[in-house]
Amino acid sequence: MSKAVTDISEIRCLPIGFMDSGLGGLSVLKEELRLLPYEDFIYYGDSANAPYGEKSTEEIKRLTFSVTERLTEHGIKGLVIACNTATAAAVRELRCAYPQIPIVGIEPAVKPAYEMSRGGRIIVMATPMAIRQEKFRQLIARYEKLADLVTVPCGGLMEFVEKGELDGAVLDGYFREHLSPYITHNTETIVLGCTHYPFLRPHLREFLAGREDIPDIRIIDGSRGTAAEMRRRLDECGLLRTDTGRAGVLTIENSAGDEMVERSYKLLKLPTD
Ligand code: DGL
Repeated sequence: MSKAVTDISEIRCLPIGFMDSGLGGLSVLKEELRLLPYEDFIYYGDSANAPYGEKSTEEIKRLTFSVTERLTEHGIKGLVIACNTATAAAVRELRCAYPQIPIVGIEPAVKPAYEMSRGGRIIVMATPMAIRQEKFRQLIARYEKLADLVTVPCGGLMEFVEKGELDGAVLDGYFREHLSPYITHNTETIVLGCTHYPFLRPHLREFLAGREDIPDIRIIDGSRGTAAEMRRRLDECGLLRTDTGRAGVLTIENSAGDEMVERSYKLLKLPTD
C-alpha cells in the first residue's frame, strides 16, 4: 500500500496487485476475478524482460523487486506474485521488505498432485531457473521420497504464450521433444509449474489424446489455490471490499507496451476497452 494511505477503509479500496514476467500471471488473475468480482486489480506483466526463467537468481530478484516497487508506489493492498520463478527466487526477501502488505506467491501444485495420486508418475513442468531454486528443490525433495516425481525443465515454452501461439505444429514439436520422453504408461498427473502453461492446456490435452499408448492424464496448476489464499489473507486483515454493489476495475500494464496489454485482455477474454 502507498505510505500516505493509513486509514483501513481507504486501504480496503486500493487495488490488489498482480505481477508476472509477462502474460502468464493472467491465469491466476482469471481465478481471482472469479473469486473477488468487486475488487479492483492492477496487473503488471514484465514481458520486456521475459523470460525470467532463464536468468540468474540475482537478476530475477532485481526485476521482481523493481516491479513490486512500481506497484506499491501505485498503491496496492495486497500482492500476488503470479510467477513460480519469481516466487521461488524472491518471495522471502519481498515479505521482509514489505511487511505491511500481504504477499502471496505461487508454487507448483505438487502437494495436491500427491494427495490425489494413486501411485502413478507425477510430472512437474517448470522453467529451468525455477527448478534450480532452493525453495523449489525443497518442495520436490519432500515428495520425491513418496512418489514417482519427475521435473521437466521447459526452457522456451513460455514464449509460445507471449507470442500468442497457443496451438499448432511447432508447439506439438516442442511437446514431442521435451515432454514425451518423460511420459510413461503409468503417468497420472502433469503439474503446470509455470503460470504461462495453463494457456497451453487445451492443446496439451489434444497432444496427449493423440498418444494411444498412455491413459488419461490429469493436468493441474496452482492458480486456484493461490487466488483463494489471497482472498483468505485479505479477509483475515479486514481488507476485503464491503461495497459489493459495484463491479471491480481492472488495469493492465506491460513493460513491452500496448500490444502486450491488448494480448492480455484477449487472454482474459475481456474487451480491450
Ligand atoms: N510465468 C513464470 C512462472 O510462473 C515464468 C516464465 C518466465 O519468465 O520464464 O514461472
